[in-house]
Amino acid sequence: MLMTLREAIASDASEIAALVNAAYRPSPQCGGWTHEGDLVAGNRTDYEQLLSMLESESRLLILCHEQAILACVHISQNGDFTADIGMLAIKPSIQAQGLGKRMLLHAEQYATEHFRTKRFQLNVLSARPELIAFYERRGYQRIGEIEHYPSHAGFGQPLIDGLQVIKLAKPANALAED
Ligand SMILES: CC(C)(COP(=O)(O)OP(=O)(O)OC[C@H]1O[C@@H](n2cnc3c(N)ncnc32)[C@H](O)[C@@H]1OP(=O)(O)O)[C@@H](O)C(=O)NCCC(=O)NCCS
Repeated sequence: MLMTLREAIASDASEIAALVNAAYRPSPQCGGWTHEGDLVAGNRTDYEQLLSMLESESRLLILCHEQAILACVHISQNGDFTADIGMLAIKPSIQAQGLGKRMLLHAEQYATEHFRTKRFQLNVLSARPELIAFYERRGYQRIGEIEHYPSHAGFGQPLIDGLQVIKLAKPANALAED
């Protein structure tokens, strides 16, 4: 399948929102191998949030096949030398085929080239050991920052008690590998 990577634009916002919500918070039987549908209720994002991300200094990279958006990842500068990577999402039906690793690497390369990044960081829910392991295999490590899930931030309501967000990071000289 021929796939192209590009920066998202405003007219992509609604399709990206649908992709992110389907990947992060799928309905039962519709999810891929890892998601947070059983941990957080509600949508992960919406059209307005995507539009404001696209109007900011940050970047959303999308992987497309013909007109369809198959994957996305968000990169934003955090201070002088750190890049936050987030909203990594692959269409559920094509997960576990290497696209997640590929998009993470694209995000790291983009941050290195455009933001002079020396360090990548990302947030993961504490209750997702399989996802933490995925990032650890790509060189990310816990840095000791743990926060309560931000219930009032508009990203959905936790379905379990004590849900936490863990920060992972790695130096930019250790790009993700397959
Ligand atoms: C997390 C996500 C981006 C990964 O993308 P992907 O295309 O499925 O992942 P890849 O195929 O590139 O890599 C999958 C890896 O997990 C492993 N894996 C596959 N199925 C697995 C399973 N059921 N349990 C544990 N590991 C599994 C694969 O063997 C591979 O291992 P490797 O790291 O040793 O190579 C994707 O699953 C997704 O969009 N999830 C929902 C949104 C989300 O949670 N995003 C991240 C928030 S921080």
